[in-house]
Amino acid sequence: MNPNLKDLENDFLYHLGYSRSDDLVTLFGDVKFVVTGGSGGRMRKVAEALAEEFHLTEEEKKRIDISRTDRFSFYKVGPVLSVSHGMGVPSISILLHEIIKLLKYANTVDPIIIRIGTCGGVGIEPGTVVISNKVYNAYLKSEHVTVILGKSVVRPVELDQGTAKEIFQCGVDSGFKPLLGGTMCTDDFYEGQARMDGCICEFSQQEQMDYIKKLQQMGIVNIEMECTVLASLCQKTGVKGAIICVSLLDRMKGDQVAISTETYKNYQERPRALLIKYLRKKLQEIQHPFGSR
Ligand code: URA
Repeated sequence: MNPNLKDLENDFLYHLGYSRSDDLVTLFGDVKFVVTGGSGGRMRKVAEALAEEFHLTEEEKKRIDISRTDRFSFYKVGPVLSVSHGMGVPSISILLHEIIKLLKYANTVDPIIIRIGTCGGVGIEPGTVVISNKVYNAYLKSEHVTVILGKSVVRPVELDQGTAKEIFQCGVDSGFKPLLGGTMCTDDFYEGQARMDGCICEFSQQEQMDYIKKLQQMGIVNIEMECTVLASLCQKTGVKGAIICVSLLDRMKGDQVAISTETYKNYQERPRALLIKYLRKKLQEIQHPFGSR
């Protein structure tokens, strides 16, 4: 997409700690999936679960952590990268610029990027796993707005519907009922998500409820902080992207995430379990040695 990259002598993927002068084709040429989520711990757990799934030896397990900086935790298990993205649009945007360039420099073929995370639900049971089929910004528009050279730039945010449906199908016979639905992205967890329990609040409970009910009427079932930029960068660069999030609370009923550590752990496992089921199916389809080992 970016013609300027051809003229660079090298390209430092600074936040990942890799550059084009590394042998990226050898290191990453086999990558089929990039799984990304907010925290380093979550992505380590994904990598460890994949290492078990693929029956890696103890020696192989020692080599899955390929992080070179402490900005983003970075793991590779066979054809799957597991990488943290931090919190919010600015952080995941940096990660995606560098990951998508890395995938290109490594000559990967049709990689898919999947975000797994947590979210606030809108009129849905806590613990519900949502696979986004449409994304909205906090103006309730299905677009990504970013500021470039002092001007607002508006970009489309179509997610790949086939991938979303395939992931959904993998979850239909799981214990938790997955849901395909609209997801809203905000720039903040508190005021940006119509919470009244931040350090300040300048709207009434009536205004809060009017807004949340409007989301529901539009088919928005969950709220998180990264989906629009993921959808827009994937669409612009022709990479398939998907988002799987578990809802921690119902925002129709409150603002505080008041769940026990046990429940939180249980909920967090759900997107991971669905993801692994989907990856298992996809890797078997392409008869990847990891999928059948
Ligand atoms: N993540 C969010 O962005 N919002 C929530 O309410 C919960 C998790």
